[in-house]
Formats: sequence, C-alpha cells, structure tokens
Amino acid sequence: MTQRVLTGITTTGTPHLGNYVGAIRPAIVASREPGVESFFFLADYHALIKCDDPARIARSRLEIAATWLAAGLDTERVTFYAQSDIPEITELNWLLTCVTAKGQMNRAHAYKASVDANEAKGEEPDAGVTMGLFCYPVLMAADILMFNAHRVPVGRDQVQHIEMARDVAMRFNHLYGAGQELFVLPQAEIEESVATLPGLDGRKMSKSYDNTVPLFEGGPKALKEAVARIVTDSKLPGEPKDPEGAHLVTIFDAFADAAQREAFRADLRSGLAWGEAKQRLVDLIEAHVGPMRATYADLVAHPERIEAVLQAGADKARARATPFLKELRHAVGLRRMVASGAVQAKAESTEKPAVPVIKQYREADGQFYFKLTTADGALLIQSQAYAEGREAGALVKRLKTEGAAALVGAPVALAEGVSQSEVDAALAALVAATEAAAQAKQA
Ligand code: TRP
Repeated sequence: MTQRVLTGITTTGTPHLGNYVGAIRPAIVASREPGVESFFFLADYHALIKCDDPARIARSRLEIAATWLAAGLDTERVTFYAQSDIPEITELNWLLTCVTAKGQMNRAHAYKASVDANEAKGEEPDAGVTMGLFCYPVLMAADILMFNAHRVPVGRDQVQHIEMARDVAMRFNHLYGAGQELFVLPQAEIEESVATLPGLDGRKMSKSYDNTVPLFEGGPKALKEAVARIVTDSKLPGEPKDPEGAHLVTIFDAFADAAQREAFRADLRSGLAWGEAKQRLVDLIEAHVGPMRATYADLVAHPERIEAVLQAGADKARARATPFLKELRHAVGLRRMVASGAVQAKAESTEKPAVPVIKQYREADGQFYFKLTTADGALLIQSQAYAEGREAGALVKRLKTEGAAALVGAPVALAEGVSQSEVDAALAALVAATEAAAQAKQA
C-alpha cells in the first residue's frame, strides 16, 4: 500500500545547514523510495503565528521554496505547495476545531511554555498569547489529515502535535465516520541518525542559539567564516586530537562517506591542526553545497519560476483536497437540502454530461429506423421499420421534445433487460439537453 508522507516547513527564516542536514536532505531522499507519496509544503499560515513582519514572511517563503528545489526535490514525484494556496485546509481547520477539546490545547507545549514564561514574569498567564498560537495544533492537524498522511517526519518538539492530530482524527472518525475511517491516524517519524546537527558551539544548530552555519547565504566566504568560529579544544598543531566528541567531526560526518570519515579521524589523531581540519570541512561542505547554491541563486532571481511550481503543486494538492472536503462536509451534515431528485440530478449532469443519443439510419432493406442509446452506446430502444424517413424523423423529433410521452403507442421496442424507467430517465435527459441547446442558440 502507498504510504503518504507529509511535512511542513514554517516560513519564518532562512534555511541553514542544520535544516538541510536534519530535514530537507532526508525528506528528499525518503521521497525517492518506491511506494512513498510525499507531500511537502510551506507552512506559511503557521508562520503568521510567530511573525508579523510581512516582508520577512514573503522573503522566507521564497528562500525556503528555492532551497527545496535547489536541493533536488522532484516536483513531478512530490506534491510541493504552499499551505495558504489550499483553502480547503482552513475550512477543515474549522471542522476539526469543533471537535477539539480546549483542555487538550491547554496542555500543548508551545502554549504552556508561553504561560509559564508569563507567570515567571508575574504577568497575566495569557499575556501576548494569540488564538493562533493557542490553536496551532489544530491547524497542524488539518495539514496532516487533509491528505490522510500516514507518516509525518518532524523534530522531537513536534511529536505532541502529531499525537493531538491522532486524537482529533479519532474523535472525528468516531463522531462522523458512521463506522468508516474518514481519517488515517498519522504517525510521527523521527530519524534518530539525522535528527540534529550541532552548531558552532556544540549545542543543536538553531537560529535561537545564534550558532548556525549558513547554507547558501553569503556564498563560500560566509561558509568559511562560520566554520572558522566552530569551537574546538585548544590542542596545538602536531598534538594528537580526539575526534570523538568533537562536534566539528560530527558536522564533517554529515557530508562525508565512510572512507573520508576514517581518514579525517586518523589525521586528527596524528596531529592535524584544527585550522587545517576546518579548511577540509569547508571544502567538503562546499563540494556538496556549491552546485546547489548556483541553482538557488538562479531560482531566487526568477521568483516567477518558483511561483509556477507552487501553483502546479497546489493544483495537484487540491485535486485531492476538494473532493475529500466535500465528503467531510457531507459527513458532518453540511449537505445540499435536496438529497436526490432535481438539484442533485442537475448537479451531476453538469459535472459529467451523459446525454443519451438517438440515431436514425437506413438498413440494406431500404427501410428507415432509429435507436436510442445511452451516452456510452448501450441500446435502450429500437424502432420498427418505417417505409418513409420522414415518419421516423417526426417521431424522433417528438421524443426529443416531449420525452416519454411520445412513446405511447409508438412502434418501438425496449431493448432486452432495459426497464421502462431507464428509458424514461434517458428521454428526460434528452429533452433537457434539447432545451439547453435551444436556449444556447437563442442567447
Ligand atoms: N509546526 C511544524 C514546525 O514548526 C511545521 C508544520 C506545520 C508541520 N504543519 C505541519 C509539520 C504538518 C508536519 C506536519 O516544525
């Protein structure tokens, strides 16, 4: 069975090396696995919760999209879109909000952290807390459930949100599924081996610690400057160094193959200077990142290309989201008032016009005939022979304008296995089509 893998990237910053190694690269690798269908998106509605600077939001959307594309994302294979281009997500957000327990949101880590910080400062518990922050996990559940993702690769700090999405999905299924699983229950996925790249000071590489290595920004020069600031011990050139526990080596490992790792360790043990080790690290990273940087720069200079990719991705995503949301609306009771009959039949016939066909023809016997078939050619009624084409034509005309009424006493036979009501319905559709055509002509 196809596994759907989905993850979102909040568009508030510029991707750094840690984002690349910890999230972007593994996601792209995983998206190439057979049997996997991936959904990657810019979580730009989530960005609004954290950032009220429109220029920064806009810039970050551009940079993050360009980074993923430059890093080799295959947008034919993967559905890549901006959350804010999928209106179905905000609509689903409301359906989910209505089945989410407020008490559970009170316990969300991000919200609780704000409350704790406020209380520590002696402020009102909810000071500065928006409804966006409070409801953050519901929007995230909508992102995930909209596409019925099975697996959601995230950082450890997001695991609680996936659990909340599962709870909400279960509750919705229970309330509205009528025994059916409307939503798949998603599973968080943390790749232990690549989860965190250390930053300059050895703590997790993160903008909030100001210890990041830039990915593309500033070119090779900025990369070199950042690597120069990586903290090492103070062993002198020529002194043996312990590679284990040196985070410079951990960063090296993220880009090296087995042989390179081995050689780097051996050289450090036999006294390689830290300065030289840093130059080797710069060269290694640059060998990976350099070619991507050129693509990145080209994309950022042509935002229209990025936009076109995102719009195509949104079309692909909405081809799923639109019919699914329709089903969900129906499940909660937001339905057309007329369940069957006129409105429904009309709605269906505009979606997929299946107008029956009447054909007149002359057989080898020289006689005239006509037959009524469904749109896809199944015989409904067959006329008897007419000596005159005009006679057959007159009845056909009446059938097209009067429908089944014209059949009374007419020399026609129903095809085998066809019921009168099927024929009546087909003729009604034919009359409607004839009227529509006449109206179109007048207009
Ligand atoms: N909250 C996630 C983060 O900050 C981003 C995100 C938004 C997300 N929607 C998502 C991740 C849905 C996975 C699935 O990292």
